[in-house]
Amino acid sequence: MSEDLHSHSHSHADVLNDSNDHSQEHGHSHGHDHGGHGHCNHSHDMPSSSEQEAEMEAISSVVTSFLYYKTYALNNAIYRRLKCIDELSEPHRQIVASLGTIDKIKRAETLIRENYKLMLDIVYSSSVGSMPDPAGDAGVFKEWLKRFFEVRQSAGKQEVSDSHMKKLYGTMKLFVRDWSSEGADERRLTYGPLIEALEDEFSDIAPESRGSVRVLVPGAGLGRLAYDICCRGFSTQGNEFSYFMLFASNYILNSSLEERQHAVYPYIHQFSHVACSEDQMRAVYIPDALPRDMPYSATAEFSMTAGDFIEVYGADDEKEKWDAIVTCFFMDTAKNVLAYLDTIWHALKPGAVWVNLGPLLWHFDNVAGESSIEFTRDEFLELAVKMGFVFDESKNKEDILLPYTADPKSMLQYTYHAFMCVARKPK
Ligand SMILES: C[S@@+](CC[C@H](N)C(=O)[O-])C[C@H]1O[C@@H](n2cnc3c(N)ncnc32)[C@H](O)[C@@H]1O
Repeated sequence: MSEDLHSHSHSHADVLNDSNDHSQEHGHSHGHDHGGHGHCNHSHDMPSSSEQEAEMEAISSVVTSFLYYKTYALNNAIYRRLKCIDELSEPHRQIVASLGTIDKIKRAETLIRENYKLMLDIVYSSSVGSMPDPAGDAGVFKEWLKRFFEVRQSAGKQEVSDSHMKKLYGTMKLFVRDWSSEGADERRLTYGPLIEALEDEFSDIAPESRGSVRVLVPGAGLGRLAYDICCRGFSTQGNEFSYFMLFASNYILNSSLEERQHAVYPYIHQFSHVACSEDQMRAVYIPDALPRDMPYSATAEFSMTAGDFIEVYGADDEKEKWDAIVTCFFMDTAKNVLAYLDTIWHALKPGAVWVNLGPLLWHFDNVAGESSIEFTRDEFLELAVKMGFVFDESKNKEDILLPYTADPKSMLQYTYHAFMCVARKPK
């Protein structure tokens, strides 16, 4: 129970941070393009060989998680449970069997195998960072895979860490939030106010003429907010540094051929807080919208960049490039939020707007060996004012009740009391 509570109390970090292995998950920023609907050209220097090695290590640990998903999930979610039932006394075992519990677990096994096909598809459809394109020369890709397994082995790494698998499970839930019709309510509550504020800001420009308005979405997750903003006519760029997110968003954004093309079983690993087995076994279909059918693709560009927000957008060539920056469940991912604010300031044009919505689950709070400065909401707002931002007080809102990758059918529900603010970098 306490483990559950812990993971839920950090639930929006599930896909992101864990105390031990930040460095193994994140991109090192050299601003790769990502997303086939437009281009952003970052003229950053080529990474050094040690940076390349670090990137290889980061990608390999994430790819390994995708590839070991089946083994890990079967061992942890299925075989362990079947063994416990096997060890029951015969009368108890028969009662349990009569409830259908064993059949349920076996059904879960089948669905984990289905999830695995999707995980493999994601890895084999992606080309992220310096990883060769799996759709290209098969020999080159195999050689690359072999190399990274060797690198891992020689580094004495266990095949896959619990924290990485938790992030992979979290990524499946993010598919629901961002790319399924089941996630529509969560998106309406969360992305809705941000998009509304943006539309309000640029209400004098018709959607077909908004392509010259450049909107940046740092910490873009699986890219839906950025995509939805682009669907309103704005040229939009999402930025991410987690390879879990980059693999998954790359897959959805670039490989989707039809709506509801893939079934994912995101709740299959969860045996607690379940009212009935249909809830746990249910499929969620993705995507609910086809990224390649963007309504304003002739006028608005869409792209994703890989890399740390501060490194990519703190660069000289990003100075005063953006008309709006939209942060959603992002500001609290900072170790030092002043550095995020500095970067937002640097990247915004004079007079441009920053729209923010989220809770304050400081991701590095109490993480061993990491620095972290946590602020209250009031301190955070004051900090932004002291750094020069001017708030539109009429648009600041408190106590916005929000779920995050919630399973609406779960017997356990968490709600964030988030806040929203709209600020401007003065001219
Ligand atoms: C809590 S998630 C929110 C994702 C998305 N905005 C949403 O609302 O669903 C925060 C995201 O920020 C990303 N992130 C955290 N720190 C980052 C950084 N310094 N640069 C780029 N992305 C970062 C994480 O990988 C994660 O996907």
